[in-house]
Amino acid sequence: MLSFLLNNKLIEISPQQADLTVLEYLREQQKLTGTKEGCASGDCGACTVVLAERKQTHIQNNQANAEQLHYRPVNSCITFMSALQGKQLITVEHLAANKDLHPVQQSMVDHHGSQCGFCTPGFIMSMFALYHDDNTVDRETVNHALSGNLCRCTGYRPIIDATLHACTNRQPDQFDQQAAQVIKQLKNIKSQDNAQQNLLTPLDRNGLREAINRHPQAPLFAGSTDLALQVTQQLRSHSTLISLSQVKELRQLEVHEKGLLLGAALPFSDIEQPLLAYFPALEELFTRFASYPIRNQATLGGNVANASPIGDMPPVLLALNATINLDDGVNRRSVAAKDFFLDYRSTAMQAGEWIEAIYIPFAAELSQLRAYKISKRMEDDISAVCAVFNIELNKGLVANISCGFGGVAATPVSIELNNILVGKPWSAASTFELAIALISESFSPIDDVRATKAYRQEMLVNLWRRFWLETNSQQHAISTRVVQVNQGQQGVSHA
Ligand code: FES
Ligand code: FES
Repeated sequence: MLSFLLNNKLIEISPQQADLTVLEYLREQQKLTGTKEGCASGDCGACTVVLAERKQTHIQNNQANAEQLHYRPVNSCITFMSALQGKQLITVEHLAANKDLHPVQQSMVDHHGSQCGFCTPGFIMSMFALYHDDNTVDRETVNHALSGNLCRCTGYRPIIDATLHACTNRQPDQFDQQAAQVIKQLKNIKSQDNAQQNLLTPLDRNGLREAINRHPQAPLFAGSTDLALQVTQQLRSHSTLISLSQVKELRQLEVHEKGLLLGAALPFSDIEQPLLAYFPALEELFTRFASYPIRNQATLGGNVANASPIGDMPPVLLALNATINLDDGVNRRSVAAKDFFLDYRSTAMQAGEWIEAIYIPFAAELSQLRAYKISKRMEDDISAVCAVFNIELNKGLVANISCGFGGVAATPVSIELNNILVGKPWSAASTFELAIALISESFSPIDDVRATKAYRQEMLVNLWRRFWLETNSQQHAISTRVVQVNQGQQGVSHA
């Protein structure tokens, strides 16, 4: 049984179909057709809905806790029903109160932000989530909040203006007035493991082990942003699924003395702040990781487990010498990230195992980390090439250097640079040149729709050059702007 609020109505259902998406449920079972289907792959945002969940807030030196609602936009087309457990699902039909448009809707009208209107419900829901965000809203935060929404005909300026106007002139709305009541209703919903159903939602490692023992072939998923594509794009169906989202051991977030432990089932938006607090150099890569609605669902564990050669986080984990903590419900073990990716979409995980957490050691105090993503679209796109480098210097000499790459081999991959670079003066051009041959010859990338093999090989060397220049003198840093881009209009991070 899944229990959640659909707008203000308590719903308790046992979905007959394990891989039912929230979008299908809304449009076909609830006849709430305000939520649109555009791409059915998480790329356009027409299907955006908002999930409200209870969130603890710390008041006055952590002495007192209060609860408020946290509103997250998600793509309903690639979200399975288990994501709704214990939350309020808010759709565009619920925004107007007593026939008065919600302020974000009225602002969209006032700023002429809609032409054909197909994208509009999705934009409205992203705007609504931002309206209820605690942070100060400016143009940058608006761009960030709308990063998952595409409009083919209006143009973005009126939509951005409408969002800025509504969110910077915020007045309490009916959602503020009803928040205490909604929190009370959500508190009364108890978590359930649904052990006898076809959409299993175990609550801890024992329950997860039992679920896997009973259904060894059933796919595991957390955010479903990848698995749901099999359903919506390849028209495959999964009769039984096991959700990891409620397994408590997979939701830990701990700051250890020497590193960060990030639970595998935490959405990216939950690990963003701690990760960037310790690794600020990842900010641009992180904000270019898919779109904001996808980061509200997708998890670090999923990004690692699917072992895609173009996943954004594996190169980071390789460069930072992270470890992947595995569990089968009886035994736990850790595998270094460099030993985890074995072949195309193949990992060191054994049957019956799952990823419990990822441990990322803090970088040495004087190390310098850089992460570069090359893609055609700035947000919500897949890397043509991703390169991450981390260097530690001692009196100007290379003490340790590590790296990770994506998009250039069948797996996320790293190469050993220490053998040739340790002890060399980092500012010397000869040091940079020493590794060029190794970096360009270690990989055999492919030609595909994102980039040619030749382009990828050239980018590898250019990104290595860029890293060397950026981590050396200011004069060198200026010359990073001449990095040669010879194919189309590729988005270049740190450009
Ligand atoms: Fe395009 Fe869902 S329909 S993101
Ligand atoms: Fe037509 Fe946005 S108004 S797609």
